Amino acid sequence: MVEKRKDVPARYATAQEIQSQMEYTSKIRAIVTAGEVKKACVVTYGCQQNEADSERIAGMLRAMGYEKTDKEENADIIVVNTCAVRDHAEQRALSITGGYKHLKAKKPSLIIGISGCMVSKKESGDRIKRSYPYIDFTFGTEKLWQMPEILYGVISGQKRIFCPNEGKPITMEGIPVLRENPYKAWVSIMYGCNNFCTYCIVPYVRGRERSRRPEDILNEIRGLVADGCREITLLGQNVNSYGKEFGGECDFADLLAKICEIEGDYIVRFMTSHPKDASRKLIDTMAANPKIARQFHLPVQSGSDRILKAMNRNYTRESYLSLIRYMREKMPDIAISTDIIVGFPGETEEDFEETLSIVREARYDMMYSFIYSKRSGTPAAEMADQIPPAVTGARFPRLLEVQNEISLERNLVWENQTLRVLVDGRSKNNPEKFSGRTDGNKIVLFDADDSDIGKFVNIRITKAQTFALIGEIVNDGR
Ligand code: 5AD
Ligand code: SF4
Repeated sequence: MVEKRKDVPARYATAQEIQSQMEYTSKIRAIVTAGEVKKACVVTYGCQQNEADSERIAGMLRAMGYEKTDKEENADIIVVNTCAVRDHAEQRALSITGGYKHLKAKKPSLIIGISGCMVSKKESGDRIKRSYPYIDFTFGTEKLWQMPEILYGVISGQKRIFCPNEGKPITMEGIPVLRENPYKAWVSIMYGCNNFCTYCIVPYVRGRERSRRPEDILNEIRGLVADGCREITLLGQNVNSYGKEFGGECDFADLLAKICEIEGDYIVRFMTSHPKDASRKLIDTMAANPKIARQFHLPVQSGSDRILKAMNRNYTRESYLSLIRYMREKMPDIAISTDIIVGFPGETEEDFEETLSIVREARYDMMYSFIYSKRSGTPAAEMADQIPPAVTGARFPRLLEVQNEISLERNLVWENQTLRVLVDGRSKNNPEKFSGRTDGNKIVLFDADDSDIGKFVNIRITKAQTFALIGEIVNDGR
């Protein structure tokens, strides 16, 4: 088992460190912009935090003079930002990256890098170095801010550079961001995780918890709102432990309240919350602020107290359910979603039935469920009684069946009601329709035109389905 890394207090990057990366950026820019236009493609796997990191990688590449492309075959540089939470995500990233070998054979000047959770640990970086000779560089999550320096080393020295995390987390302000969507923005409020749930690799690959200063976050959001952004999603592995290093001066609820003081027509979402830290104060703050979306993602992982203990989750089924009861009492229309792991080591049929029963009691609007994936280096990987795939495979659809029925019931409540929705654009699955999300983060499909994108509209719900609502625009949502 990998030792828990000692708590190294995170520190803010110094002005000198920021300046030095800006200098590398200018040097690369001089090279990149000297000839024909050069293009950069960033490919993202994994969670919203990774999407937010990719927007920073894309922002740095733009500052270096690269034009953005979504097609790997047109790119002069490809950065694959990876996930390590489950084995499947790692295997997919590796197999896609394997395909780039042919692109490099066709265009030897192509530069290929891998970033993120999969290459944060030294051993994983070493494996890439050995087995993937066409990969030019890697950098772990704690090294993202140093990408200009790493890339300059590759370009100027024609050498391969591998930079795993070293357990010296830095909080960096001022990294340029290239946002995918002008109306919706991810804003990271903290990085890392200190919880060490026994199944989870995140604390080992994203390092210790560190919060951004409230004034930096508020300034970023003020800028976004002034630029017309309509939806801000605050990100962190456990947003409820925000601000611990500020000595109780500004906790997550205080931060939310300060954000809501910023004038403008926008909504605020946040994820993810750990049930052991989600406070009554936070729920009261939400209830008092209509700008905070009526949505709460509260991963339960299991309904069995025995399994929750083995997972090191530090709450019980009863304390979790009482939190949900409090939320519904304060905000009857709140939509609650969860994450659940099926087949954690030692999970018996009785434990699994407790999970089915907590799903029935909590009545989630949405559930994200995962089959347990063994992550080497985590305590659960060493536990006896790993559950065979045939057993997890049989349990998983039973869980989906219970939740799907509840999702439909929870959606049917909205039929014939009018909801305010931010228009996202054409639906990916159904391009004839437009899609958007309700305050409760439910997908709504409706007819609209391109000029509606990025606007709030009021939609009357005509039909509820398990995974979406169907509706029609009544009027604009002012
Ligand atoms: N196996 C399966 N699911 C996992 N998750 C985290 N680690 C694992 C793992 N080893 C799930 C948890 C978490 C979500 C983001 O991913 O449910 O909340
Ligand atoms: Fe992983 Fe637990 Fe941290 Fe979430 S809170 S990132 S599940 S260790």
